[in-house]
This record gives sequence, C-alpha cells and structure tokens, in this order.
Amino acid sequence: MTAPLRPQPRPGVLAIDPYVPGKSTAPGAARVIKLSSNETPLGPSPKAMAAYRAVADHLEDYPDGASTELREAIGRAFGLDPDRIVCGAGSDDLLNLIADAYLCDRDEAIHTTHGFLVYPIAILGSGATPVVAAEKNHTADVDAILAAVSARTKAVFLANPNNPTGTYVPFDEVKRLHRGLPPQVLLVLDAAYAEYVRKNDYEAGIELVATSDNVVMCRTFSKIHGLAALRLGWMYGPAHVVDAINRIRGPFNVNAAAQAAGIAAMGDVAHVEAARAHNEKWLDWLLVEIRKLGLDVTASVANFVLIQFPSAKAAEDADAFLTERGLILRRVKAYKLPNALRMTVGTEEANRLVVEAMAELLGRK
Ligand SMILES: Cc1ncc(COP(=O)(O)O)c(C=O)c1O
Repeated sequence: MTAPLRPQPRPGVLAIDPYVPGKSTAPGAARVIKLSSNETPLGPSPKAMAAYRAVADHLEDYPDGASTELREAIGRAFGLDPDRIVCGAGSDDLLNLIADAYLCDRDEAIHTTHGFLVYPIAILGSGATPVVAAEKNHTADVDAILAAVSARTKAVFLANPNNPTGTYVPFDEVKRLHRGLPPQVLLVLDAAYAEYVRKNDYEAGIELVATSDNVVMCRTFSKIHGLAALRLGWMYGPAHVVDAINRIRGPFNVNAAAQAAGIAAMGDVAHVEAARAHNEKWLDWLLVEIRKLGLDVTASVANFVLIQFPSAKAAEDADAFLTERGLILRRVKAYKLPNALRMTVGTEEANRLVVEAMAELLGRK
C-alpha cells in the first residue's frame, strides 16, 4: 500500500523524542515540593516581580524587538558590547536558532552522552545528525569530542556545567577543545548554571567568545534569576554569528514582561548573591548527607545533584517513595542515566525532607 500524499516534516523531525519536562504533581500528597526542574528556591528578585507587574498597564504595545535596554543591562553587568548580545525566549530559543542558522541536512553536530536533551532535538530539528561523544566519569571528555569531529561537523554543543550530571570542564580544557576544532566549527558553550560555579578553574566562555570567531556562549534567566516562567535567555557571540541569528529570530521573540523583569533582575545583585550563597551551603550539605546514606553522587557544581542508585529498579522505587511524600525529583532515563535521580537544591526544609525520606527508604533511620 502506498502512503497517502500529505505534507511531510523534513528528515529527522520524526526521529525526535519530544522533551519531557520534570513532573510537577504528586497525586494524593498533601503538599508538593518540586525539585525536578532546577528552579531556584528563593524565587525571583522582588524588583523583577514589580517590573513584571508594571508591564500589565501596557499590554497593547509590542515589545522592543531588539531587547535594547535588556542587552545594555547585560552588557553593563558583564562588561560586554550589547551589539554582540542576542536575547531569546529562554536559552532553548537561542540553541534552536543556532542549530537552524548553522546546520542543515548531511551536517553533523556533536554533544556528549549525558548532555542537555535540547541539543539532539535542535540538531535533528535542523535536519542534521547528532553525534554523541562519550563522557568520562559523567564529565564531558575533550579528547572524545575531538575524536568525533568529521568533515561534516558544523557545531559542538557543550553544557558547562552540564545538566543533569552537574559536572564541569575546566577552562584550560575548554580552550584545548577550542584549539582542536577546525575554525569552521561553531563551539556552543551553554553556561545555564554558570552563576552557581565556585571553582577557580572555571570560566563560562566570555573570554573565548571575545578572542575567537567560532565560539558562542548561552545564558539563562531561568535558574539563578528565577524567571523560568517568563522564558528569557541571552547569547554572546562574534558579530557575524549575532548577525546570522538576528536574521532568523522572531522579530519580537522576547516579550515585554520578560524584558522588564530581566532588566530589574540584572540590577539586583544582592538577590543573585543570596541565591548563590544559599546554593553553596545546601549543595555541599546535600552532597555530604546523601553520600552518608551510602549513595553515590556526582561532584556537582550547579544547583542540583545527581544521585546514583544501585539499579534502575532502586531509582524507580526511590522516585515512587519520594513522590508519595510529595517530594518530586527527576528521573533521568532519557539522559541514559536509568539508575539515577536528579534533585534540585531546594529550601532548607525541602533538602532535609528529602534526605530524611531517603534515610527512611534505605532503612538508615
Ligand atoms: C544546560 C541547560 N541549558 C539550557 C537550559 C534552558 O534554559 P531556558 O529556560 O533558558 O530555556 C537548561 C534548562 O534546564 C539547561 O539545563
């Protein structure tokens, strides 16, 4: 039988496994604590909330399509030229725009085994082929990435730190990766969790972007700034990449409320500092307490931990046990980590409740 004639998506689209966000309900639980999407337990800056509310008085107006004031605010905060910044509806928007602008059929783009799932989606969506570079100890491996480069490679997507492992690649290694790439390959450094990292040998990517022609850095307002609901991200890149992305992005891809809240969030340094300090304290606490329970945890530098269980069944049972108690963590089977659960660093109460519940589950209480 011949298939009926009807519109067909381009090759690769139907090979995409749709992204499944972290669950947010726990049927039957009196109270739900969501620790499945790496959202900040401190919420957004009150200044960002006020700026967001003020936009309600002008909903009839289109936003500034160039996000001019927001790019200027980011430029001031990071010492960057605003002309080399593009804002997007979340960094997801920018990652997809980068794939759309630089990849097409028969091209290849590289990501690592447990890399952020938006990369294969964006790569396949552009018609190109994702090539997976093996990780070492749940960490991106520069040699494996370089070995995966072929004549068809057009881009490398590297989350640094990576979600869901929480591990990072030191700046020297990122520079070695860059040195090893042909100049026509675009290196995309996705630094969604950069603000949380407390390591002297880490650099989000600003220096490499500033000194080369084939590196872009993506950032988000969804994590430390607590504006995930508004969908806001930005990228910093060479002028020629910025020009290409500006040609294909939606003319009003960042809404007015997101722009206003983003500007206010950039100005509230104390709020970001408080979120960073909270995370530092409770990330360390969780790593210690979970290891005391006899479980393995990757050495996360971000705002979440990846907890390893002895088997996929044990991870599934732990997930069910915690969910019954209203504690929602993230299963990461889709990231090829069936034995693990990812937990966002929460409030003190949330962190203690999870550790207590896991102690009960493991008979340590
Ligand atoms: C590594 C990484 N990059 C990008 C994003 C997307 O963030 P946004 O909310 O800005 O689209 C996430 C969100 O989970 C992430 O973990």
